[in-house]
Amino acid sequence: MSVRRLHPDQPRSFAFSAANLEWAKVTITKYPPGKQASAVIPLLWRAQEQEGWCTEPAIRYVAGMLDMAFIRVYEIATFYTMFQLSPVGKKAHVQVCGTTPCLLRGADQLIETCRQRIHHDPHHLSADGDFSWEEVECLGSCANAPMVQIFKDTYEDLTPELLERVLDGFTSGHPPQPGSQIGRQASCPVGGPTTLADFVKAKL
Ligand code: FES
Repeated sequence: MSVRRLHPDQPRSFAFSAANLEWAKVTITKYPPGKQASAVIPLLWRAQEQEGWCTEPAIRYVAGMLDMAFIRVYEIATFYTMFQLSPVGKKAHVQVCGTTPCLLRGADQLIETCRQRIHHDPHHLSADGDFSWEEVECLGSCANAPMVQIFKDTYEDLTPELLERVLDGFTSGHPPQPGSQIGRQASCPVGGPTTLADFVKAKL
């Protein structure tokens, strides 16, 4: 995983849109008095959704809203890979899991696909600005390794060819259904249930 630092080129300022400000005020009231700092992740996430990435002025703005020290919000934004610290592709930012189960199942080939198709290096935009990628740690879909996350969705059971198909979908504006890309339900066994199969056969 790469070092997580704020991008050197930052916008001058940040402010929530009127609708997002209203939403943020309501969100803060969901937490007990004195615990408003607990709203930091949803507020940072909404700021990222508004701007496309998590800017330094947005981190400062959220810190101000929640009466938190800037460094505390900065620590959170730089810790979680859900927060993008530099501009990402307009159509998709591909987060490839590179942790052991995914790596054993071919994540290195998915990374190579991203290198070939998007940019040689992570955190760089493709030539058309539509795509970017990075390697991240386990995203909790190990049973369906290897996988990628794009924005809020995961695409699982991938091969390089299936990842190409997912990216084609984002290019055309019609991404495939999230989840397994080989049609299995959740993390059920490939080819259907196997548990107690012999027992069931013996009973028939
Ligand atoms: S190791 Fe890749 S999702 Fe857990």
